Amino acid sequence: MNVRLAARRTALVAGVIVVAAGCASDAPQDTWKPAGENAQKIHNLQWPVFAIAGVVGLLVVAAVGWSIFRYRDRGQPIPEQTHGRPALEIGLTILPAVILIGVAIPTIGTLFALSKTDDTECYLNVTGQQWWWEVDYPQQPGCGGIETAIVTSGQMVIPTNTNVLVRGTSRDVIHSWWIPRLNGKRDMVPGRVHTLRLEADEPGIYAGQCTEFCGLSHANMRMEVVALDPADFEAWKANQLAPYEAPEEGTLAATGEQTVIQQCSRCHQVDGLLDTEGNPVIAEPELYVWSEAAPNLTNLMTRNTFAGATWSLLVAACRDRVWNAPPDEFGALYLEGVTPECLNQVDLREWIRNAPEKKPMYTDPEELGPTDGKTRGMPYLALSEDQIDQVIAYLLERK
Ligand code: CUA
Repeated sequence: MNVRLAARRTALVAGVIVVAAGCASDAPQDTWKPAGENAQKIHNLQWPVFAIAGVVGLLVVAAVGWSIFRYRDRGQPIPEQTHGRPALEIGLTILPAVILIGVAIPTIGTLFALSKTDDTECYLNVTGQQWWWEVDYPQQPGCGGIETAIVTSGQMVIPTNTNVLVRGTSRDVIHSWWIPRLNGKRDMVPGRVHTLRLEADEPGIYAGQCTEFCGLSHANMRMEVVALDPADFEAWKANQLAPYEAPEEGTLAATGEQTVIQQCSRCHQVDGLLDTEGNPVIAEPELYVWSEAAPNLTNLMTRNTFAGATWSLLVAACRDRVWNAPPDEFGALYLEGVTPECLNQVDLREWIRNAPEKKPMYTDPEELGPTDGKTRGMPYLALSEDQIDQVIAYLLERK
């Protein structure tokens, strides 16, 4: 086969692969499948704009192609040189302007509609960290009433058919929060609070990922919004605020509680946890980690993900069951949390064994100098396999 033909075929195959790679019928982050009022507004705008831009694009490509073919060099003499065609020039200035104005009017209308937040019924805060999202629900009468603040991470739980005001910021660098099926994206900037209205029509999980380059593990910084119908949301809240239950004495989990106090609770808060003298164990991540924060583990097993929503706490079959549940069955399944049979032991063990190896946090793990002795993200703790068993047994009861 001659080289040119081979090159052409390779280019064709590569082109088809690239185009086909953009197709997926079950993509969880699909802006073309809006699942809430705000995303629907964006969708209602992007369809006509896409159509208009498509028609203009096709016409331009066709005109260029026709000109190239029609006026190609066939040895003919150079055509007569004239100065301009005023009618054409004026026409081709006015026409694009008219098209752009036509696109601008609905675009500006949508921007204003999306930035409106005075119709929100409750609020919560989201804080970007390197590399995970903290979510907290302040005390408020909204969202059916929140008596005591709730702190969670990775998954943001909201009631369906409710306009929720998300107030976002960051502790370290600029991150960007985006759940494509629910709304557009918002940059989360240190020292600023950016707001976003969120609403989901149906119970379910809506995926997203950080969309602003924020360091080494930017690609490992995901988030999920979990929409529950208002009754299930009440059940979720009650569970988050339920008093701490210490493991039964003499169990593996009870040993795990001590291991967690010694190894994990410097950074990770577990609400209600008491030391052997009966004093509350209070985490001080600001002393040990660069971001000055670590996920609250009080109800870890009520969420389905860990480490920046990068890994599932559920094994694949259990995860599929939750993600693919019909809307009327989703809430009950989600509220079950992580059961011992469904726990993804493999990834959780690897994480506890050596977190920096599983999720890159330093280009050079030895280089702690610039971070003032604090670690960036979870450090290597050199736990024994027995200690890991204990910690997992303890964590399994955190729901
Ligand atoms: Cu956070 Cu990218």
